[in-house]
Amino acid sequence: MLKVTDIKRSFGGLHVLRGISLTAQPGEILGIIGPNGAGKSTLFSVISGFIPPSGGQVELQGQSILRLRPDQVAARGMVRTFQVPREFGDMTVLDNLRVAGSSAHADTIMSGMLGGRKARGAEAELKLKAERMLERLNLTAVAGNQASALSGGQKKLLELGRALMVNPRVLLIDEPFAGVAPALRDQLVQHLKALRDEGLCLLIVEHDIEAIMELSDRICVLVEGSILIEGTPAQVQNDRRVLDAYLGATPA
Ligand SMILES: Nc1ncnc2c1ncn2[C@@H]1O[C@H](COP(=O)(O)OP(=O)(O)OP(=O)(O)O)[C@@H](O)[C@H]1O
Ligand SMILES: [Mg+2]
Repeated sequence: MLKVTDIKRSFGGLHVLRGISLTAQPGEILGIIGPNGAGKSTLFSVISGFIPPSGGQVELQGQSILRLRPDQVAARGMVRTFQVPREFGDMTVLDNLRVAGSSAHADTIMSGMLGGRKARGAEAELKLKAERMLERLNLTAVAGNQASALSGGQKKLLELGRALMVNPRVLLIDEPFAGVAPALRDQLVQHLKALRDEGLCLLIVEHDIEAIMELSDRICVLVEGSILIEGTPAQVQNDRRVLDAYLGATPA
């Protein structure tokens, strides 16, 4: 489904990604862990088309997506969420979802502004889809609230919902559990498992080791722009090099 080959990226003289290769399949959660500054978010930005790599290849279902913009990548079925949620704070929660979904129907909605009947149908459909998403994520009670008033965990849920509005097959999720209270954390874990079970391919960057070990089928450990090891959660957890990397010691 997703194939990343030898991705490199530098900022000035700083080599942030030094040749990352990985693959991910439908119905799988690939966890990505590593110390602060290892290059995890940069990797997501490159894969999803937000920044170009200095070298390497990204393929989605066998086709290169390297030169595509993020919206074009999304149209092909892959979206990312941001470490710091990017909701529109002064819009309602419901409208945030409608806007996120509208890019998928941009043409018909535009003709709607010109008064087309087909477009009004598309608008109504989008509203219904947004309402179903709110139900799925247990956000219906806050549908009419301004997004800026949500709790940290609710913002993470909304960020996930906004990504899901484009019907992705591959979802890149950057730190879903950061700043999330325990009650919502468990909900979020269940949502992510459910998406995997529905056949989505999920890549999750996360510092909450307990949660990522529980969720992931495989884990990549990213250290200083390279993949240090890749394996099952049990393999990774018992690897001395992972501990060393987190403690800042030189990896053996
Ligand atoms: N646009 C940029 N310009 C210059 N340097 C950047 C840019 N984006 C990221 N970096 C640098 O690249 C390195 C990796 O950053 P990145 O955000 O990918 O790390 P991360 O693994 O996601 O860390 P964290 O766990 O703290 O989120 C850091 O040293 C960061 O300062
Ligand atoms: Mg990051």
